[in-house]
Amino acid sequence: MTNENYHIPVMAKEVVNLFKEREKGIFVDATIGAGGHTSCILEHLSPKIVIGMDRDPKAIEICTKKFEKKKHIKLFHENYANMDKVVKTLGIQEVDAILIDAGLSSFALDDEERGFSFQKDGPLDMRMNTNEKETLSDFLDRTDEHTLAKVLKEYGDLTKPYRIAKKIITYRKEGKIKKVSDLVQAILEEFHITNRIPDEVRQVFQALRIAVNNELFFLRKGLWAGLRILAINGRFVVISFHSGEDRIVKSLFRFVSQPIKILSPEGFLIEEIPPIAKNLTPKPILPSPEEVCLNTRAKSAKLRAIEKISDKYIHYYLEKEGEIYD
Ligand SMILES: C[S@@+](CC[C@H](N)C(=O)[O-])C[C@H]1O[C@@H](n2cnc3c(N)ncnc32)[C@H](O)[C@@H]1O
Repeated sequence: MTNENYHIPVMAKEVVNLFKEREKGIFVDATIGAGGHTSCILEHLSPKIVIGMDRDPKAIEICTKKFEKKKHIKLFHENYANMDKVVKTLGIQEVDAILIDAGLSSFALDDEERGFSFQKDGPLDMRMNTNEKETLSDFLDRTDEHTLAKVLKEYGDLTKPYRIAKKIITYRKEGKIKKVSDLVQAILEEFHITNRIPDEVRQVFQALRIAVNNELFFLRKGLWAGLRILAINGRFVVISFHSGEDRIVKSLFRFVSQPIKILSPEGFLIEEIPPIAKNLTPKPILPSPEEVCLNTRAKSAKLRAIEKISDKYIHYYLEKEGEIYD
């Protein structure tokens, strides 16, 4: 089995069940990766078209081979923030099912040349889209201690980010951090543990990856892009692996599933704008203990889903969207 084949799609059964009623529709797999979810969808449902995209060119290369004979699968090397535009290039106005399975693919994590894993030495790269300019190395050069500490706190949930940020920036300036192993060493020096790699190393790597790829910004954009092209009764499913990602999905899905109350300056209710979606998961769906046992990557996954119920007032929601993330 090659690296490209062993990716086990997370909560695939739950995804297939949520899409069952739209089974002959037009699907968007916005993070096609190694094609795990798409394969399950093809196995259990009968989509008319699957539009697959990924910002990692390697994912498109893998899926081009994997789905070579499936003419109804259309692949795009694209950021899902642009999924509305991508779909329209095919002359399609609306889709029935959208899946975002956020984060990193196993094949990228396992490739030491990409620099994502603290367990393999490699260059300070971490770009999901290898055609983009800014690598981790560039990011470290343009970032100050304060900004890095913020990144480590917000994206890595580190409780004492300042000491680590200071060490990384100081060592980088002194030319002591040139590759992944140097970065790991710098973090380890802050902890006096010799018999194991502390959790904080993984947290720092996660935070840096999210920052280099601007992942939360694109997630927000992708959710709105998807909502715009989702048909009435269409379903949007998002699997996230990080508290920051889940917070964005939860806020947005709650927001679009509730009416907007328009009040007069005196605070009287003037109008109530009906919701544009139904929240199918007021509480997130979590992987079963059996799945976590088989696939540890599923451990931190949370799945949320909505169904679009109306298009009429989407512009009201778009106008107010800035308010929901504060
Ligand atoms: C967890 S993997 C998806 C795995 C896939 N569902 C499967 O079963 O094989 C996440 C994928 O999303 C891609 N990705 C992350 N952010 C993206 C974005 N903004 N636009 C498009 N793809 C993105 C990554 O490159 C990665 O391939």
